[in-house]
Amino acid sequence: MAGIRESIHGQWSSRWAFVLAATGSAVGLGNIWKFPYITGENGGGAFVLIYLVCIVIIGVPIMMSEILLGRRGRQSPINTMRTLAIEAGHNTNWQWLGVMGVLAGFLILSYYSVIAGIALFHVFRTGVGTFDNATPDGIATLFNTFLDDPQALLFWHTVFMVMTMLVVARGVRGGIEKAVKFLMPALFLILLILLGYAMNTAAFDQGLSFMFKPDFHALFYYTNDAGIEVMTWNPVLIAMGHAFFTLSLGMGAIMVYGSYLPQNASIARVTFMIAGADTAVAIVAGMVIFPIVFANNLEPGMGFGLIFKTLPLAFGQMPGGAFFGTLFFILLTFAAWTSSISLIEPAVAWLVENRGMSRAGASVLSGITCWLFGLLTVFSFNIWSDVYPLHMFEVFREKTIFDLLDYLTANIMLPLGGLLIAIFAAWLMSRDATRDELDMGEGPAYISWRVLVRYITPIAVSIVFLRAIDLI
Ligand code: PHE
Repeated sequence: MAGIRESIHGQWSSRWAFVLAATGSAVGLGNIWKFPYITGENGGGAFVLIYLVCIVIIGVPIMMSEILLGRRGRQSPINTMRTLAIEAGHNTNWQWLGVMGVLAGFLILSYYSVIAGIALFHVFRTGVGTFDNATPDGIATLFNTFLDDPQALLFWHTVFMVMTMLVVARGVRGGIEKAVKFLMPALFLILLILLGYAMNTAAFDQGLSFMFKPDFHALFYYTNDAGIEVMTWNPVLIAMGHAFFTLSLGMGAIMVYGSYLPQNASIARVTFMIAGADTAVAIVAGMVIFPIVFANNLEPGMGFGLIFKTLPLAFGQMPGGAFFGTLFFILLTFAAWTSSISLIEPAVAWLVENRGMSRAGASVLSGITCWLFGLLTVFSFNIWSDVYPLHMFEVFREKTIFDLLDYLTANIMLPLGGLLIAIFAAWLMSRDATRDELDMGEGPAYISWRVLVRYITPIAVSIVFLRAIDLI
């Protein structure tokens, strides 16, 4: 049965092209912007450890499942789920899993683009030497003033959305492959240069012990307003949600990229490469940021502005800082760009398949939709910065619309999507079909994958969900 379907959107030129594109999707703001700040907010070491465990026991098996579904279906996630459900003798309602993914992609891209716009703005700000010898306070004030200006945020959000639409309109295969091949290694190289700088700060050891010394008590317990210590699973949910977010899982991005994967590539091998590269970037980013935080007496839990308030300090102090800083933000923007493309590809592929639209038309339509949703985030940072729509619930009490969008997508929609993908691949598809597609025979590798997606992954995700429910 394998290999009988062909994608109408074409194929990657090789297994490598897929690895590069999927790595481009995985490595992005999630690794460099989000991972350090949520690690800082959730106390460091224990959080990092749980995140790593989630990558291994949940992320890797689900990524394999998502690629295998995509390659077998060879269509947009919505149609792939529909086709595979029919093939396995099940209800076509499975296509709604694809629909939820499209929605999650829109919502994520809406705020992702605003943050990427901030990164883009920093290319210019660093380039003109604004940060030379700047103080932590000075940098924080500059950043906050920028956030207060809806027009500036809107401008950079618009530029980034247009960049995304341009690439998606031309088809994801042309440019991405080439861009990722050079830009990802360059980004990693600059991170290593920054790591060299961080090692020379007085607080390198303190930064490392914050990231790698687990304190489980601090993770699970917090003191509420009444001064009572309460247990919470919220940080575990956030760590798990981030494992999905950072690997681009649970919404069809990896599935749609998998649908362009040549039949002879080994799914297990490509998965290890993507997950390994993604994890390495995040860990190095953390090892750069936390020493800078402690060396300057800053607060690791300061929130989503963390990288924008710490990295400029390093660039302001190191030799050649304006140059490296500019290059760093250019590369960060590229990393975000290759991720944003994958966030709307499932929607675009579906519009082309089912509505007969051209790629260009489908990209513009999806792009405008995300741009509009993006206004919610733009205003969350200024005119609506004290609007907390769900303030009646303890966990959401001080969450802005942007915070809620992030929470809903990363911590609920992606893990739910991933859970359903695991159930579909492990329980509903025939054993022959999955074994055929993974092409590992009946050996220990296949058996381990199957045990993980059949039992471990769904049980782990469900436990975290159930424990997290009593947060509300
Ligand atoms: N993985 C991307 C990042 O870490 C974000 C993303 C999430 C991309 C979901 C596609 C799908 O930045």
